[in-house]
Amino acid sequence: MSDAPKPLVGILMGSKTDLEYMSGATEMLAELEIGCEVRILSAHRTPDAVAQYSASADKRGLEVLIAGAGGAAHLPGVVAAGTILPVIGVPIPSTSLNGMDSLLSIVQMPKGIPVATMAIGKSGAANAALFAAAILALKHPPVQQRLSAFRAKRRKEALDNQVP
Ligand code: RP5
Repeated sequence: MSDAPKPLVGILMGSKTDLEYMSGATEMLAELEIGCEVRILSAHRTPDAVAQYSASADKRGLEVLIAGAGGAAHLPGVVAAGTILPVIGVPIPSTSLNGMDSLLSIVQMPKGIPVATMAIGKSGAANAALFAAAILALKHPPVQQRLSAFRAKRRKEALDNQVP
């Protein structure tokens, strides 16, 4: 029997090549001891699987979804269209436009289907995990405590670094 926490966060990415950046999210969730599941699913290569995943995510116990994609990055929006779970988008810098294309694709969702859009790349992926944690903290006191402890640690590090 595994001791891994039950997945509350679903992480999707359009390609295996996105993992280099999306590891920012998996690493941060691991640090906060938040269970997640990771899937490579593409809005244009595997549209049926994306629709199926989005439609069943809440029934399977997931509470927040993070979706990373590059180029014409439609995955987060397509996922958001298929679920009422909060969807956090991460723009991946995988094309010659270095993620500006992905950022604008994800952030410019038409009114009615929002995607909470993070910064481009690995830092954005880490922030997606922290944002997911903040959402989960509303309902899960242990997550709230771990997120508060994370913030307190960052605060102490910053203060300890002051130049005299
Ligand atoms: C997008 O196309 C993916 O999210 C990835 O960022 C980009 C390139 O994918 P690969 O051609 O490397 O698989 O769908």
